[in-house]
Amino acid sequence: MRIHLLVLMLLAFSAFAPAAHAQAAEVIPRPNRIEEGHGSFALNRNVRIVAPAGRRAQEIAAFLRDGIREQSGIELRTGTAARRPSIELRTNPSVHGEEAYRLTVTPQRIEIAAADDRGLFWGVQTLRQLLPTGRHATLAIPAVRIDDAPRYAWRGVMLDAARHFIPVALVKQQIDLLSRYKLNVLHWHLTDDQGWRIEIRKYPKLTSVGAWRTEADGSRSGGFYTQQDIRDIVEYARRRNVMVVPEIEMPGHASAAVAAYPSLSCPKQPIPVPATWGVFTDIYCAGDEATFAFLHDVLGEVAALFPAPYIHIGGDEVPKQQWTQSASSQQRMHDEHLPDVAALQSWFVQRIQRDLEARGKTLVGWDEILEGGADRNAVVEMWRGDAEAAKALANGNRLIVAGPFYLDTPIEELTTQDIYRIDPFAAPAYAGHEDQVLGAEAPLWSERVTPRNLEAMLYPRVLALAERLWNPDARDYADFQRR
Ligand code: ACM
Repeated sequence: MRIHLLVLMLLAFSAFAPAAHAQAAEVIPRPNRIEEGHGSFALNRNVRIVAPAGRRAQEIAAFLRDGIREQSGIELRTGTAARRPSIELRTNPSVHGEEAYRLTVTPQRIEIAAADDRGLFWGVQTLRQLLPTGRHATLAIPAVRIDDAPRYAWRGVMLDAARHFIPVALVKQQIDLLSRYKLNVLHWHLTDDQGWRIEIRKYPKLTSVGAWRTEADGSRSGGFYTQQDIRDIVEYARRRNVMVVPEIEMPGHASAAVAAYPSLSCPKQPIPVPATWGVFTDIYCAGDEATFAFLHDVLGEVAALFPAPYIHIGGDEVPKQQWTQSASSQQRMHDEHLPDVAALQSWFVQRIQRDLEARGKTLVGWDEILEGGADRNAVVEMWRGDAEAAKALANGNRLIVAGPFYLDTPIEELTTQDIYRIDPFAAPAYAGHEDQVLGAEAPLWSERVTPRNLEAMLYPRVLALAERLWNPDARDYADFQRR
């Protein structure tokens, strides 16, 4: 009897052992801590998914139910009352950390515990990766305990829908995949020289004119998202823990808008929507109040469509000849005591920033917004290198790093392994500024990317980025490849 008890106690203490190679938990991104247990949980139709009564928790339970049905064909029921065998989702404030979760699989039950809904959802995504593939009446899930949380809060991918339109279903599929690997931001580049892709009710020509271009062979190409498409995508992303951050480019990369409404540029000359790539001189006129009235209206519709607290306004690559040559812009510089056109750009961006802040939104911009001085409440997205990151950090801005992760770079020049090995925050520029670093994202500019090769450009490189940002301590590329 005594020996029996002792054996039981020993078993209880050694129920989970640190996994040397974690063969059992083939999860990407690699969880912070994995301990393998004994035995396995039998997942079959008698299992119930139990979750707290709140709307989001019930939605997450339904997401898990649907995922299990899709992956294995097993139909589970969801509910709020505890009942064994069960998969239990629990809110537990003792699981520390933003987005953190603890997943425990024993032969008796599966529990996902988290302090917040975001953590609960990531626990569900991990459990989905643990399910054996294939259709069986019962799946055996090996016992395991996983304690996990991300290192960086901003883990993103940027999709450029402006150079080549990305159909709604393909955008949703990417959201599904980002979410599967715990990336939580879709930065959606919606306007540029070669196309305006978002319906704005007050300015219908932005899409009736600005969304279409005539290619060199005479064909018409383009497309745009209706406001209903946008709402659908934002909701699809919300259910998957993904925040959609729209980018509305200004003051440059604005040719499509100028093609629709020529009065937005200083020369006010009609232009076609360009069908070639590069940087174009037709930009919004900083001297005209009408420009700001237009942008105020556009941003109002955008702010209403996207619940994210951030709006990206671009700000990169702004040739300023038109401002130099325009009487109204020169007058503006005189009135506002601005020494040069760089200062005029800074004034432009800060005026837009005040407009956004009045709507409760934080401005995000490419690192050029530092030129001429940036307000420290703006979030800077670094693309031109660590020197720009250093300027942003010294100025007190929060930072997103994109430069090392340009996925439009050919795959042979920036491989999955390269991305896995990049340690963007090791440079001296970041030392002592850890609190200002939100995270990173991988932009996929689409001059040479169409729906035919979009996924080939994204994957598997995005998986390496996902692991880099979630768990930078995972360094073993062979292990990553195996998973
Ligand atoms: C950029 O690549 N022009 C931000």
